[in-house]
Parts: sequence; C-alpha cells; structure tokens
Amino acid sequence: MKHQSDYLLVTGSTGFLGGAVIAELIGQPRWSRVLLLVRAPDAATGRGRVVESLRKFSVTQDLCDRLQADQIICGDLCSVPAFSDDARLKHVTEVINCAALAGFGKPKTLWPTNVDGTLAFARLLHEVAPLRRFLHVGTAMACGFPAPQVVTEEFQPALDAIHLVTYTESKIECERRLRADLPGLPLVVARASIIVGDTRFGCGPSPSIFWVFSMARALGEFTCELSDRVDVVPADYCARALLHLLDKPALSHDLYHISAGPKFSSSFGEIDAAIADGLGEEPTRDYRQVDYETIAERHSEFQALFGPCIVSVMLRAIELYGQYAALDMSFDNQRLLDEGMAPPPRFTDYAGLCARTALGSSIAEQMQYDFKGISTRAAQALAALTRSSVKVAV
Ligand SMILES: NC(=O)c1ccc[n+]([C@@H]2O[C@H](COP(=O)([O-])OP(=O)(O)OC[C@H]3O[C@@H](n4cnc5c(N)ncnc54)[C@H](OP(=O)(O)O)[C@@H]3O)[C@@H](O)[C@H]2O)c1
Repeated sequence: MKHQSDYLLVTGSTGFLGGAVIAELIGQPRWSRVLLLVRAPDAATGRGRVVESLRKFSVTQDLCDRLQADQIICGDLCSVPAFSDDARLKHVTEVINCAALAGFGKPKTLWPTNVDGTLAFARLLHEVAPLRRFLHVGTAMACGFPAPQVVTEEFQPALDAIHLVTYTESKIECERRLRADLPGLPLVVARASIIVGDTRFGCGPSPSIFWVFSMARALGEFTCELSDRVDVVPADYCARALLHLLDKPALSHDLYHISAGPKFSSSFGEIDAAIADGLGEEPTRDYRQVDYETIAERHSEFQALFGPCIVSVMLRAIELYGQYAALDMSFDNQRLLDEGMAPPPRFTDYAGLCARTALGSSIAEQMQYDFKGISTRAAQALAALTRSSVKVAV
C-alpha cells in the first residue's frame, strides 16, 4: 500500500454487516485506500479472516486478491493502546465503525467493547487523525421502552428506558458518551433496524435472526399476531446505505435510521407466506398467537422441531425474541430517503431465498449465531437459569 493521506478505516469486517460493507467496497477504485481493523495476531492472519468474510458474500478470488496484508491493522477495541501508535492512523479521514458485540448474550467483554473500547477508539482517531466523518453503526432498538410504535430519528430515549438486553443498553450508552465526551468528533450515527440476510445470497453470509421466523413456522404459533409488522433490512442494503451516508459531502443530520420504516416493513403473515413460497410449502395454517408459557409447555417437542439443542437455551431465545416479535414496531427512515438513498427492498422480496439458503442447518444451529457471545460453559449455566423476569412496558 502506498502512502496516502485519506484512508477509510472500517471495523468489524469479519462480521455480518462489516463483511457486507467491504464486499461492496472491494470492487471500487477507492479500495486501495481502505484499512481494516481486525482482531488477529498478525496481518497475514487478519487478511485470512477478512477473506473468509468476503467469501460469505461470494466475492471472487480475483477481487479477494485485491486485499493486501498491509491494509490490516491488527487490533482489539478492548486494547486500543496496543495499536494507537500505528502511523497509518494519522492519515485516516473516514471511519465506518461496524465492530461491536452484537449478540444477545452478555459476555464480560460486552460493555468494555461496545462502550469503553468504542469510545477509546473514537477518542484515539479524534486525537490523531484528520477526520472528516466518523460513521458509527448503532441499533434502532437502542430506543428502549417505552417507545412509539413508529420510532422517528427525533425520538430521544429516556435515560431510564427499559432494555430487553444489555446489548441495546450498551449501544445507546455508547452513542451518548460519544456525543458527550467527544463533542468535536464528526460523528454520524446510523442506527440499523433488524438486519436479516442479503438480497443476493439469502442467509449464506449469516443466518442471524432468520431462525426466529423459521421457529414460528415450525411451532405454528408464536408471540405475535400474523398482522404484526417487523422492520427488517438486508445486509447489502444496509451496507450501501452506510456508504451513501459516508460519501455525501454534507448531511442534514447526525443520526439516521437504516430501516424499512412503516412503508416497507412486512407483516409476519406476509413473511410466512413468502418463506412458504420460497420452500414450495403451504403458508402456516391455523396459526395462533400464544404467550411464552404456552410455547414453553411444548419443550419436549423442541429437539424434533428445532434439531439437537439445549432446551433451556431455546426457551431463553424464544422468550427474548418472542418479546421483540410482539412489539409491532418500525423505525422511520425518512431522513435517509431525504438524503437520496433508494428505498429498501421488502423482506418478503427475498425471505424465500433466505429460507432456501438456511436449509443446510437446523434452527438450533442457526440460533447459535445470535448467542455466540455465550460460551459453552455459560450456555450450560443458562440451563440452570429460571426464566428472566424482564417484562416489557410498552
Ligand atoms: N445484525 C443486526 O441485526 C444489527 C442490527 C442493528 C445494528 N447492528 C449493528 O451492526 C454492527 C455490526 O453487527 P453485526 O451483526 O455485523 O455483528 P457481528 O456479525 O457479530 O460482527 C461483529 C464484528 O465486530 C467485531 N468485534 C467484536 N468485538 C470486537 C473488538 N473487541 N475489537 C474489534 N472488533 C470487534 C467482530 O470481530 P471478530 O470477528 O474478531 O469477533 C466482528 O467483525 C454492530 O454495531 C451492531 O450493533 C446489527
């Protein structure tokens, strides 16, 4: 890599969204000025990890060959001082910060990564780099509860908002501290709603969250009404929206939703029909909206319905995601559309593809992706947990 003075630094490229971002970028002329922060012992290993991520998005070998080891900065958000003297950082003008612990587990590193580490990383860049834009990926669910059914970007979550999981709490805390502690940072927050699959590759890159819809189909009942809507965007749209926000010389706001919004959200009934169509099956008949307890009573069927699994982990997942499914919320995307971004595709346009590409693994296996913060030991410990007492007040 030649010395340049306008690097784009991307974090989280070994993950789902960051992978989609670099899959978009790698064919572009600007690729030679892209740097990647990767957790790896050395640049060659880091490069290998990133190539693995690119392959999930079917990036060709020719394009993967464009990735040079000297584009890798080995580093962990939890140990920012370890890479803070990297000379390349002084030439970074743009950041897309996708790195975070995004699962619904609660590993010890959650807060150190999503709050303290992210802040230390932003502070370092703010201090040493001539930043033009620091594009931070947030999550729309950071709004917490209570929240309106259609959450606008103007909506300010209360400081004592209730969070179903520590992850969303850590994300809003990070946003607050970025704004409070680094007021001069050229920060733009892009809060993504629920990212499911990819319009071209379905669940190939990641089965994250898709298993919830498969689970509801397998059970024939779930916590939501079929008419309840869910705000889903595919990873490729989300990645293009991030690049759109990065590239516009001036933006009207410093916070955006990357979401389906009320207009492009789909109902569970529509999604069920799209999945059935994709699989050549019938839509769910005699669907019932039930509470968690009713589903829990069927635990003896779980192995047959979901594949080999730890029943208590499945119960925890059903409880958590069941609460989300029943929210019937969407996230207004008017600001992004006003910036000239194309509207998102509907989930129903590619849910059938997701279903087909997820067929190779069981529902329980797919679910592990979203609980990957949980170690085997913790997963076993979960088995001893009684049900969480979290209740949503919406
Ligand atoms: N997926 C969704 O539905 C969704 C929805 C809304 C918002 N988001 C946001 O989108 C962003 C990306 O999420 P994702 O779904 O792509 O998650 P993901 O697949 O779990 O990827 C997370 C990425 O962050 C990296 N990372 C984690 N801890 C790190 C650390 N301490 N230092 C450096 N890198 C670290 C991971 O690296 P390793 O490979 O080394 O672990 C990985 O590259 C997150 O900010 C998340 O909050 C996601």
